[in-house]
Amino acid sequence: MKKRLFSIALVAVMTVALLCSCGKQEGMTVTKGVLTMATNAYFPPYEYYEGEQIVGIDAEIAKAVADKLGLELKIEDMEFDSIITAVQTGKVDIGLAGMTVTDERKVTVNFSDTYATGIQVVIVKEDSDIKSLDDLQGKKIGVQLATTGDIYASASPEKGGYGEENVEKYNKGADAVMALKNDKVQAVIIDNEPAKNFVAANEGLRILETEYAVEDYAACINKQNEELLTEVNKALAELKADGTLQKIIDKYIPAN
Ligand code: ARG
Repeated sequence: MKKRLFSIALVAVMTVALLCSCGKQEGMTVTKGVLTMATNAYFPPYEYYEGEQIVGIDAEIAKAVADKLGLELKIEDMEFDSIITAVQTGKVDIGLAGMTVTDERKVTVNFSDTYATGIQVVIVKEDSDIKSLDDLQGKKIGVQLATTGDIYASASPEKGGYGEENVEKYNKGADAVMALKNDKVQAVIIDNEPAKNFVAANEGLRILETEYAVEDYAACINKQNEELLTEVNKALAELKADGTLQKIIDKYIPAN
C-alpha cells in the first residue's frame, strides 16, 4: 500500500515536472522550435538581400545563436519602425537590425548584451560646402525613419539636433541617400558601415570626418521573456569567447 502510494506520488511529481518543462520550452519562442527574428534588410553589411536570401552580420549572428539554442532561425523583413512593436506584441521573438541601445527603447523592450559598435556619421555630396556638424544648421537632412539618426537630428538645436522641420524621413536608408543624390536633402545622417556601403555604391558622395555619435548595437527581446534574454546572452558570450562573433564581423567588414 505504502509502495503504491509512493509510486502514484512519483508519477504525479514527474508529470508536473514534465508539464512545467514543456511549458517553459513552449513559452520561450513564439513558434515552437523556431527563433523568429525581425529585421529591416536594407542595411548592409548588417542585413541585406543576396538574391532571395537575407544575409549579413546580424543574420549570421542570429543563426549562430539559434544553433546554440537548438532552434531554427526564421527572419522576417519589415520596416525598421515596426521591429520594436513586433517584439513588444509577441509577433516575433527577437529583433536584430543594427539596433542601437537607447534609454527610450529600453522602456518597451529588453536588450541583450551588445555585440557591435556603431557610429552615426554624415554623408554629403563630394563638392558640398558642409565641412562640419555646425555647417548642418539650417540644411535639409535625410534620415531613416525612427532610427537614432532621426531622433538625434530631429531634436531641437539646444539639444544638439537640427530641428524637426529640417529633417526628411525615409523608410529606407538607401532612399535618404537617393534624395541626397537628387539634391532633395543636403546631408544624410546614418550608421557608419551602411554609410560606407552607400558611398561605395554611389558616385559623388563622401562621409564627413566628424563622428556624430557612438552607439552600441544589441538584440531586442520582449520584456516578459527573461528566459530568452538569458539564453541569448549565454550564447553571445560563448560566441564572443570562441572568436565566432569577430569572425562574422571580419567577414563583412574587411579591415582597411
Ligand atoms: N542604429 C540605428 C538605430 O538603431 C539604425 C538602425 C537601422 N537598421 C536597419 N536595419 N535599418 O536606430
